[in-house]
Amino acid sequence: MPGRYLAAENIRSVAVIGTGAVGASWSALFIAHGIRVVAHDPADGAEARARQFIGKAWPALRRLGIARAAAPDFGSMLSFAASATEAAREAEVIQENVFEDARLKISVLAELDGVAPDKIILSSTGGITPTALQTACRHPERVVVMHPFNPAHLMPLVEIVGSRQTAPQVVDWAMAFARRLGKHPIRVNVEASGHLTNRLQFALIREAVACLVDGVASAEDIDAALRFGLAPRWTLMGSLLTLHLAGGRGGMQGILEHTGHAIEEWWTPRSTPTLSTEVKARLIEAAREVARGRGVDEWVQWRDEQLVVLISRQNESRGTEPGDP
Ligand SMILES: NC(=O)c1ccc[n+]([C@@H]2O[C@H](COP(=O)([O-])OP(=O)(O)OC[C@H]3O[C@@H](n4cnc5c(N)ncnc54)[C@H](O)[C@@H]3O)[C@@H](O)[C@H]2O)c1
Repeated sequence: MPGRYLAAENIRSVAVIGTGAVGASWSALFIAHGIRVVAHDPADGAEARARQFIGKAWPALRRLGIARAAAPDFGSMLSFAASATEAAREAEVIQENVFEDARLKISVLAELDGVAPDKIILSSTGGITPTALQTACRHPERVVVMHPFNPAHLMPLVEIVGSRQTAPQVVDWAMAFARRLGKHPIRVNVEASGHLTNRLQFALIREAVACLVDGVASAEDIDAALRFGLAPRWTLMGSLLTLHLAGGRGGMQGILEHTGHAIEEWWTPRSTPTLSTEVKARLIEAAREVARGRGVDEWVQWRDEQLVVLISRQNESRGTEPGDP
C-alpha cells in the first residue's frame, strides 16, 4: 500500500483522544511543533485543564528550543470536538490516551475504526499489547503503539510497538513521526504486557520494594542508590554497555568470565513482593519519607525544570560518543 498514509513529515493536525496527563502533554508537544490539535475528552473541564497544562509546559518547550512562539496560540492550534469520531474526522492522524483500561480502549478504538482507514491510530498505552487494542478493529493494520514516558512533552524515549496485524509501513511511519517530534524512538519487536521499558523499570521497582520490605536500607537510601549509584551513568549509556565497561580491558567477555557466577546470583530476585495492605502502607509511608513533606506539584515542577537541563545536556553529548560519525 505505498503512499496510503500521509508522510509523517507532512502531518499538520492530530486528533488527541483523551487529554489527561499524557494527552495534554502530547498536545503541548504537537502544538510546539506547529501541529494543530483537535481534541476530545468527555470529562467536565477537560478543555480548561488541557489549556492550563499546555500553558505550564510551554516554558520548558521554549527552553529546549522546540516551541518558538512566546505563548501557545490556542485560537488556531487547539480545538475540542464533541466526539472522538468528530475529532478524528477533522485531523490527519489519531492519537489515543484514554484511561489504561483495555475494555475502554478497545471500545474507543472500535469507534475510531469507523474513520477513514488511511488515518494512522497511535496509542499511548503503557502496557496493553497492540493485538489486544485491535480486537474490534476492521482496519487493525493502521493501529500502532507509540508509548511515551512521563512527562511526554519532555522525555526523549518513545516505544513503537506493532502487532502481526499492524502493517510494517505503519511501524516505520510511527518511527518517522516520533523522530519528527524530536523523540528517540525504539522499535519493540515482541509484544508483551508492559512493552520493554516498563519491564526494565518494574524489575528495578520490584527490587526497591523488596529491599524496603526486608529492611535492607531506609527509603531515602534505596532511592539514593539509584539516583547517585546508577542514574548518572545510565544517562550516558544503557545496561549492556555499562556491563561491558565494568569488565575493564576485558570488556563483556572479561566480566562474564570473572563475575558471571556472582551476576547470576545478584540478578535472581530474592523475593517478589505482593501489594498486600501492609506493603501498600509501607510504600505510602516511604513516599512520605522521600517527599520530605513537599507536595506532588512542587516535586513535578522541580523535576521538569531539572529534566530540561539534563535533556539539553544529553542532546549535546549526542554526536560526541565514540563510534559516532
Ligand atoms: N501517566 C503516565 O505516566 C503514563 C506514561 C505513558 C503512557 N501512559 C498511558 O497514557 C494513557 C493515559 O494515561 P494518563 O496518565 O493520561 O491518564 P489520565 O487518567 O490522566 O487521563 C485519561 C483521560 O482519558 C479521558 N477519557 C476517558 N474516557 C474517554 C473517552 N471515551 N474518550 C476520550 N477521553 C476519555 C479521561 O477523561 C481522562 O482525562 C494510558 O494508556 C497510560 O497507560 C501514561
